[in-house]
Amino acid sequence: MKIGHKKLRQLYSAFFNELDHAQVPPSHLVPQDDPTTLFTGSGMQQFVPNLLGVAHPLGDKLFDIQPCVRVQDIEEVGDNRHDTFFEMMGNWSLGDYFKKEQLRNFFTFLTHTEKGLGIDPNRLYVTVFEGNDQVARDEVSIETWKTLFDEVGIKAEVGDRIRMYPANKNWWSRAGEPDKMPAGEPGGPDSEVFYKFDGEHDPAFGKECHQNCDCGLFLEIGNSVFMMYKKVSDGTFEELPKKNVDFGGGLERLLAAAQNDPDIFNTDVFSTIMKAVEKATNHSYDVETCKPALRIITDHLKTAVFIIKNGVTPSNKEQGYVLRRLLRRALVKMRALNKNYSIDSIEPIIEEVLKTYDDIYFETTKDLKEILPVVMDEVAKFQKTLERGLKELDTLKSVDAKQAFDLYQTYGFPFEITQELLAEKGIHLSQEDYDKEFASHKEKSRSSADQKFKGGLADKSEQTVKYHTATHLIHQALFDVMGNSVRQEGSNITAVRLRFDFYCAAKPTEEDIKKVETIVNSHITSALPVGFKIMPKEEAQTLGARSFFKEKYPDQVKVYFIGADEDTIREAYSKEFCGGPHVANTSEIGKIEIERFKKIGSNMFRIYAK
Ligand code: ALA
Repeated sequence: MKIGHKKLRQLYSAFFNELDHAQVPPSHLVPQDDPTTLFTGSGMQQFVPNLLGVAHPLGDKLFDIQPCVRVQDIEEVGDNRHDTFFEMMGNWSLGDYFKKEQLRNFFTFLTHTEKGLGIDPNRLYVTVFEGNDQVARDEVSIETWKTLFDEVGIKAEVGDRIRMYPANKNWWSRAGEPDKMPAGEPGGPDSEVFYKFDGEHDPAFGKECHQNCDCGLFLEIGNSVFMMYKKVSDGTFEELPKKNVDFGGGLERLLAAAQNDPDIFNTDVFSTIMKAVEKATNHSYDVETCKPALRIITDHLKTAVFIIKNGVTPSNKEQGYVLRRLLRRALVKMRALNKNYSIDSIEPIIEEVLKTYDDIYFETTKDLKEILPVVMDEVAKFQKTLERGLKELDTLKSVDAKQAFDLYQTYGFPFEITQELLAEKGIHLSQEDYDKEFASHKEKSRSSADQKFKGGLADKSEQTVKYHTATHLIHQALFDVMGNSVRQEGSNITAVRLRFDFYCAAKPTEEDIKKVETIVNSHITSALPVGFKIMPKEEAQTLGARSFFKEKYPDQVKVYFIGADEDTIREAYSKEFCGGPHVANTSEIGKIEIERFKKIGSNMFRIYAK
């Protein structure tokens, strides 16, 4: 039986419901109040405080399916397994079960013919952490895998079906291997499962084939991370209060494995979109040489749709720049395949993306009306400049970094696109030279966005935590001054400033904004305690805790309150649904200055504060 993505979702939910796990709503694709990454890139991101020891309102056993974007993989897209948007199927144990149960559960999910995917266990190969000077070799996982394979009549040998690897392969944290982890970051050894497809090893990738060989025979389909360590400032590790499990498996790859077809673009989260792309470009996905470009178009337009759905529009900064780059790169590839492609052929592609996830993330008819104009607006902008820019490129014999930068400024050609167009003419342009040029133009925004493309952790400083608490104070102070029509629309915090967007029926005057600033500072000087309590959603609403109206909340929520203790929450100055973290006392914030205030839409306003 061919398993489609809807069936896979059902099986996953049923499997974990039976194991008494609570389903958690996925977090935003564009993280709220988290300046460390541009997009949510793993399922565990929303559970970091819980992995570090804070109780989760829904309990100790959780699962979800998390939409993720990993822009750092953009260059890899084009082969049969990489994509910039994917869904991570995840489950977590916060100090409940550990290695043995986790590995058994995942193995059962993969192989069980009714409750799971019915994968032939002979196809499965695993990897385990070999140990280093701080953390021992993972004997429990080795023994567990031996037992699990033995139960299905397979003798699993270490060095073959079970392979040991060092930390660069079998250790997981958001920052990567142990040395790269900042102090305070949780991580741990992991055990991965690979699916082996039919075929011959390609010796270009090494003498011998093995789980982590890149020749394409093996595909990683799931990673169980045993999150039990926290990096401390002297560079060593401390055990976390609880031994946690953080599991993630890519939905697209699990589908590919279930279908025994190594190409994720043949699964039903891509195939109908691909059909529309084939039509638009007039090229068939059966032709090997067209595959990379067709995959890039399919992947990038899909990712763009998800990003737009999250409220981002194309720009030259941060998430907006990623979106622009994805859209423009897709258009360049469209053009490369078919110089005369029709702009009208884009709508059916966007519609197929929405239809693929209809009822899961989209309502096709409604969302098409909102998303299509954003795409078409950028298409129109790019069309105009593309032709002019290409003409100019054609007249140039060679292009240096300065000219590439001019193309970016004049025609909006993202560097990667200039680089690709030049490569077609056999001209190489180095990123390094270009970056130097860029830096000299003091366009810091893009470079800082690039830092985050790399997926690394940016600043998790105390300052961002302070600003986070300050946004709660600003929110409440706006109510105090402007009345009940105030509604938070979003916020964004970096290590150097906070930004707060809100709706208000009347336009605040300069004097109103000054009042808000004074109120916030008076609450900072009063040194109010900050605390939180986990409670049923209804109770939080009755208490009058402010929530973010766009957000779907689970039944149990965390409420942060300022200026009260647990028994007097009702009287607290500020009460908000929020995941934290926050300072313990407002005096830690220091003085706040509202630096800028502007109108950003009808009855929509933005505050910048420091
Ligand atoms: N957090 C782990 C990952 O993303 C499961 O691979």
